[in-house]
Amino acid sequence: MPKIDWKSLGFGFSDVNCHIRYTWKDGKWSKPKFVKKPFISMHIGASCLHYGQECFEGMKAFRQKNGKVVIFRPEENAKRMFRTAERCVMPPVPVEMFVEAAEKVVKANIEFVPPYGTGGSLYIRPLLIGTGPQIGVAPAHEYTFIMMVMPVGAYYKGGLKPVRACILDHWDRAAPHGMGDVKVGGNYAASLFAHEKAKHDGWPVELYLDAKTHKYVEEFSTSNFLAITKNGTYVTPDSCSVLPSVTNMSLKQVAADLGWKVECRKVRYEEIKDFAEVAACGTAVVVTPVWEITRGDEVIRISDPKKPGKGLQKLFDTVQGIQYGRIKDIHGWCHEVK
Ligand SMILES: Cc1ncc(COP(=O)(O)O)c(C=O)c1O
Repeated sequence: MPKIDWKSLGFGFSDVNCHIRYTWKDGKWSKPKFVKKPFISMHIGASCLHYGQECFEGMKAFRQKNGKVVIFRPEENAKRMFRTAERCVMPPVPVEMFVEAAEKVVKANIEFVPPYGTGGSLYIRPLLIGTGPQIGVAPAHEYTFIMMVMPVGAYYKGGLKPVRACILDHWDRAAPHGMGDVKVGGNYAASLFAHEKAKHDGWPVELYLDAKTHKYVEEFSTSNFLAITKNGTYVTPDSCSVLPSVTNMSLKQVAADLGWKVECRKVRYEEIKDFAEVAACGTAVVVTPVWEITRGDEVIRISDPKKPGKGLQKLFDTVQGIQYGRIKDIHGWCHEVK
């Protein structure tokens, strides 16, 4: 076993045994290679460097209560990367190849999956980039698909902690019918400036409204928006410029299983003040309760700053319970690494 202080792990890169790598050339994907060193040598004209032919994913493997190691819904990340690749004119990674790569790379680094009870997980970061040289604007002729892994710690060491969020009207994340619904690096470059400004001014997360009218809620820079109404309905925005989150998809299902009404619809900014609970959701933390949202001079108080609402706590406990094998996986979301 590697010498790791599992309890104090954060969310960051760390060295493991290897990553897995495939190349696409002459119309087909190569066999996988395990590569020990976390470096890549590529042509200085590679299309990922010049024209942003780059996309990635994020998912997790968990060591469950009974000792099994599972990956949470890798097929959904595979399908999302497939759609992203098509949008950027890159050769899509077949879903079976993606899932197989995830199994292989987790298996090759199995001792880095944090022990059950530490709250940690093995973060899996798939990456697809154009590595062939391309100086005129056009898709490359060669691509590299990499899947890397790293152990990460529990985000909430002492239970869910509500945060404050802000809306910065001066910057938008994604245009309607642009690239907001796919996972390309450019979307994060587009939000980094506002993100750093928000952080500097004391808000850990920033919420984006729709770029065209600034009337409707879209999502946070790295997570979807969800709300629970006073009569217990799960509400999440429907927009063509929001990334379809695997966590949100799972939470919607959990909410429906609990007998809650689920609405995926346009959410007006003015509605925020009437919600009982609001949260950001994504792979990294499942849900982050948001207790207050600031937009210019307007401050909307939503819920208790000290503790999460009951609805969010229930959703969080259920998804984590499934991931760690404490709750029956009735939908078959946990993909076992044998
Ligand atoms: C912009 C954005 N929205 C939402 C999410 C949450 O998606 P998921 O639940 O698949 O991690 C992420 C993280 O991947 C993200 O970067």
